[in-house]
Formats: sequence, structure tokens, C-alpha cells
Amino acid sequence: MIRKYKVLDLFSGCGGMSLGFEQANFEIVLGIDNWNDALMTFQKNHKNTSILCADLSKIKPSVISEKYKNIDIIIGGPPCQGFSIAGKRIIDDERNKLYKSFVNFVKEIKPKAFVMENVPNIISMGSGIIKNNIIKDFEELGYKVEVKVLNSSLYGVPQNRKRALFVGLKNNQIFDFAKMQTATTLISSKEALSDLPKDSVNDGSENKSLILSNYQKLMRKSFNLIFNHTITNHKEKTINIISMVPDGGNYKNLPKLLQNTRKVNIAWTRLNSNKPSFTIDTGHRHHFHYLYNRVPTVRESARIQSFPDNFIFLGSKTSQYKQVGNAVPPLLAKELAIILKEYL
Ligand SMILES: C[S@@+](CC[C@H](N)C(=O)[O-])C[C@H]1O[C@@H](n2cnc3c(N)ncnc32)[C@H](O)[C@@H]1O
Repeated sequence: MIRKYKVLDLFSGCGGMSLGFEQANFEIVLGIDNWNDALMTFQKNHKNTSILCADLSKIKPSVISEKYKNIDIIIGGPPCQGFSIAGKRIIDDERNKLYKSFVNFVKEIKPKAFVMENVPNIISMGSGIIKNNIIKDFEELGYKVEVKVLNSSLYGVPQNRKRALFVGLKNNQIFDFAKMQTATTLISSKEALSDLPKDSVNDGSENKSLILSNYQKLMRKSFNLIFNHTITNHKEKTINIISMVPDGGNYKNLPKLLQNTRKVNIAWTRLNSNKPSFTIDTGHRHHFHYLYNRVPTVRESARIQSFPDNFIFLGSKTSQYKQVGNAVPPLLAKELAIILKEYL
């Protein structure tokens, strides 16, 4: 039997990126994060993986490499707290410590490859100085690094979510993002959500709706139960206002008097049933379902992120929204992982 490539997930959150790698037949050996709720979800859905709740800016990479041998790949998304540079270098200071810890893990473990995910504007920060520094940091460790901003909707995810992905390879190999197959048709929010009920259901209830799209078939597979589908009971005023916004519309569709009732430019936005969703957030509650007068449930948000229905979120509802909204869409990670394997 060919052994599966072993993956260490740093800043793992609930494990969106890990799930994608798992779907591409990698073995996730360990997920590290300092957020217990997300790790509980991670553990529930990655039963054979170890978890470690720790501050990655404090933990020594050697502690991990001594316990977990033969790690082939390191993946992860260190939260970007802004970067500080001195001269032309990213320096070792407070604001850079999470990014630096990712670099230090790569330095210690020397994996065959790494995948680091971040916000798209990391590419343009400091007119590209940050991006060039990141590439340089890893080049000094013997990796060739390619970076690209990918729009998830081109990889089977019903969401226009853009993420910057840095892929580093050893032995002078260069990752070619162009090998990742892009979709010719995009998946709409209706294709993603139309088989989920309008109202709340108890965890574990049967999904009685027919499967209405190929995407729903993929999300449900043989799992026909619904979890994490508790609707938000908005105030009557909120319901009245959002009911005036058409499918795909926003605050501009409201009477002038109501247009400024929320002080953000994304306020009162409805998903467009015929298009992929816009980037879902971690629960700010400004985006509404394309048909119902409420924000999407956790399960609907998970569908938009391409988490299958058997991936169950634990913790409070607020925490669940945050876990979902933080994640790398599993299908995006899977597409990348499939191509990555060709280089290993
Ligand atoms: C963008 S999210 C990662 C999402 C994950 N890659 C996924 O696909 O589900 C970033 C994660 O970094 C974690 N984090 C932030 N600071 C940390 C620290 N000092 N040590 C460990 N984890 C940290 C957060 O708790 C959060 O789960």
C-alpha cells in the first residue's frame, strides 16, 4: 500500500483546509490552534487526527518534530496582524510573530512542501514588499515559492471568496497554479441552498427535501441529516426592511429614508440566487438569504463554504459562525492538494 502524505495543520481552526487535503487523500496528523471551540469541531470531524491547543507564537517547533515524525507537508493560515518591516526585511517583532512561527516550523521540520494561506491584499501590502519578503524568507530555507490569489468560485465553491496561497516546494520544483482546473460554470447560491428548510430544525433531523442540484448531491452524499440549522430570529423592523430588498439587491433598493439605517456599505445585502455568494463573514449579519427574510444559518454558511453536511460544528452559534467564516473552503484546498501531489 502506498503511504499517505502526512500533513501538519498550523492555525488549523475548525479544519477547512485540512478537510480539503483529506479529501485529496492526505493524512492529517495534527492540528494546532489556540481556540478550543474550533479544535473541538476539528476533532469531531477528523477523528484520527491529534489536536493541540497551544499558542503558536510560544510553542517550539522542535517539541512537535520530536513527537510527530515524517511530516511531509505543512499547511496553515497564520492570521495577518499587519506586518512590520525594517529596511527591506520582515522583522522579528510582535506583529509578525504568527507569520514567523509558520516560517520557524518549516525551518525545523523541512517538509517536502508547504501551503500558506492568507488575505488577498497581502500581495499588495507595502507595494509588494511583504510578498517579496515572504518569498525570500522561504527561499533562504531552500524552497521555491509561487503565490497566487485564487477565487474559490472557480474551483467548485458557490462563493466569490478570494484567498492568497503561497506554495513552497523543494528540489527546485515550481508549483504551477495553472494546472488547477477551473470550472466553466459557477455554482449559484440557489444551487447551494435550495434544499435546506426555511425554519430551524433540531440537530440530526432528516432532510426531507429532494436533491435539487449536483452541488447538493455532493454536499449530502449519503448523509441525509441536518445539523447547525437554527435560524436567527430578527426584530420585526429588520424583517420588514429586508423584505423590501429583492433577490440579489442591497440597501440601494430601499426607500431613501431607510438606506442609511446601517452604517456599512455592505448592509442589507441579499444573496443573488443565480450567482455564487459574496464572501461570507464571521457572523456580522449584514447578508441575507436570497429568499428568506433572515441571515443564512450556520449550515447554509457551511454549504456556501463547501463543507459537506456531515461536517458538524460545535460551540455556541456565534462561535460556529466564526469557525465557518474563518475557514479555507475545503473544495478549494482539495483542488490545490490534488495538484500538489503531482510534485511530491
Ligand atoms: C484564518 S483561521 C484558520 C482557518 C483554517 N485554516 C481553516 O481552513 O479552517 C486562523 C486561526 O488562527 C488561530 N490563531 C490565532 N492566533 C493564534 C495563536 N497565537 N496560536 C495558535 N492559533 C492562533 C485562530 O484561532 C484561527 O482559528
